[in-house]
Amino acid sequence: MATEIIGPAWEFRNYRSNSESVDGACGRVYTLDTSRPEANPRLANHYSPRKGAILNIQVTVNGKVQEREVDPRRLLVHFLRDDLGLTGTKIGCDTSQCGACVVKMDGKTVKSCTCLAVQANGSDVTTIEGIAPEGGLDPVQEAFWDNHGLQCGFCTAGMIITVDELLRKNPNPSEDEVREGLKGNICRCTGYQNIVKATLAAAEAKRS
Ligand code: FES
Ligand code: FES
Repeated sequence: MATEIIGPAWEFRNYRSNSESVDGACGRVYTLDTSRPEANPRLANHYSPRKGAILNIQVTVNGKVQEREVDPRRLLVHFLRDDLGLTGTKIGCDTSQCGACVVKMDGKTVKSCTCLAVQANGSDVTTIEGIAPEGGLDPVQEAFWDNHGLQCGFCTAGMIITVDELLRKNPNPSEDEVREGLKGNICRCTGYQNIVKATLAAAEAKRS
C-alpha cells in the first residue's frame, strides 16, 4: 500500500473560519506509510482494507502526554471529550461556524470540530481545563466571572480560549477590535455585551 496523506488538503478545503484569530483548518498533515510500518513508529500494526488504519497518536494535552489509538477519521473534539473526558470543550455546530469547540494547538486557536485527532499528533493542546493554574482562574476567566460574561455557558470555553489568544496578539484592544476578534464565536444566548465588557476588563487586568 502506498503512502497515504491524511490532512487538510481534501477534508478541510471548504471549511474556513470567519475569524482571523480562529483558523478553521488546523493545517497539519499526518503522513502514514502503510507499506513500511517500521518507518512510522506510531503506526499501530494493523491496517485492513475493511477497517482502514488504526493509528497511535501522542498528544500533550494540558501538559500531560496522552497516547491513544484512534481511527483516522476521529475528530479532535471527540478525542478530547470522549477519549480523554475533557468535556469543557463543546460541540455547538460541528461545521466550523460557532467556535464552541475552540482549543489551542501549539499556541494557536483551532476549531477542534474541524481538525482530525491525527493532525494533533505530536502537538501541544490546551483546553479550557488547562488554561489556568490548578485550583485557580486565569485572568480572562476571572473577568468573565466578574462581568457575568455568560448566560447558559455553552459558548464560554471557546470564547475564553479565543479571548486569551486575542489579548496575546493585542493587549489593549478597542471595543471594535474585541468584537472583530470574536466574530468566529457565536453566543446563542446573545450575551455579547457582557462578553465584550469581560474581554476589555481582562485586557485591563492583564496590563496592570
Ligand atoms: Fe466547532 Fe461549532 S462545534 S465551530
Ligand atoms: Fe449561552 Fe453563549 S452564554 S451560548
